[in-house]
Amino acid sequence: MRIGVLCSGGDSPGMNAAIRGVVLRGVEVLGHEMIGFMDGWRGFLEGDWINLDRSAVRGIAPHGGVMLGTSRVSPFSSRAGEPGDYEMIRGRMAEYGIEGFVLIGGDGTHRVSKMLHDQGIHVVGLPKTIDNDIVGTDYSFGFDTAVSTATEAIDRLRTTGESHRRCMVLEVMGRNAGWIALHAGMAGGAQVTLIPEHPESLEQIAEWVLSVQERGRSSLVVVAEGFRLDGMTEAVTSPGVDRFGRPRLGGIAEVLAPLIEERTNIETRATVLGYVQRGGSPTAFDRVLATRTGFAGADAIDAGQWGMLAALRGDEIVLVPFSEVVGHFKAVPARRYLEVRKNFG
Ligand code: F6P
Repeated sequence: MRIGVLCSGGDSPGMNAAIRGVVLRGVEVLGHEMIGFMDGWRGFLEGDWINLDRSAVRGIAPHGGVMLGTSRVSPFSSRAGEPGDYEMIRGRMAEYGIEGFVLIGGDGTHRVSKMLHDQGIHVVGLPKTIDNDIVGTDYSFGFDTAVSTATEAIDRLRTTGESHRRCMVLEVMGRNAGWIALHAGMAGGAQVTLIPEHPESLEQIAEWVLSVQERGRSSLVVVAEGFRLDGMTEAVTSPGVDRFGRPRLGGIAEVLAPLIEERTNIETRATVLGYVQRGGSPTAFDRVLATRTGFAGADAIDAGQWGMLAALRGDEIVLVPFSEVVGHFKAVPARRYLEVRKNFG
């Protein structure tokens, strides 16, 4: 069988390891053929692809980014998908001689995966996102690397913050889910962690920061980009919208820092970590997770188990139907937030 591999959405450390995993198992062990489309659906639409064999994936697991490139280009002419789109996709698949896809992506990608599967087009999905918000998998590859990077930033900010007796506010990614903030905040011992799932009041945040000062320390506040103060209806989108009209989040740290300073009279500085979290070499955990989901994806193809996401449950990689994944969203549960909130301040 000949299969097309493509990556869609924002990149995430571990995508190369996932491609390597799917090729090592799918091509080397199971004897299938694989090709990789460049820059996601753009490559599929424009006939820009490379052969994926063992030599193409040699030594790529430690590399950040993704060798195939990724984009937010859609294969559909409308969000809902038009009948002509499916015909076009089938036509191109026949042209490339492929019988199915491995799609590596996050929630948006797997919404497309399900649409294709529902129309009888063969797809197996691999879950990536630093945000860790995909339902059905305990962790998505890229998350562990992003948390490690954010934790290192906290450790560094803490030393300069303590030197100047300042409150330091670190903004991390997390559009709808505060997983990176929650885990990095715990690992780095942040005094306050603010996540999109749980708005807080400025009064409460100021109270925590002042109580830290009272016991002779400087506060480290971690805030996810999607966090809203009580009463804010929208997340801060200082950079505007992207070229697909999607709001670009970011800037909440710059909003919070002067407000905290005004309320507490403690000098406060903001740092936005941004894309540093998506870049660089994946951690060993992410390499292993990505490789194993790649293996499982290739096994699913071989067994004809289409319409499935290769997901982590405990220590096992299992196949989860797209119908259980798409349209849902894995928020930080209240109990996980309240567990750390008890110690804020
Ligand atoms: O989906 C992961 C993510 O890192 C979000 O947290 C963030 O809002 C988004 O990507 C930004 O990505 P881009 O600017 O590439 O659209």
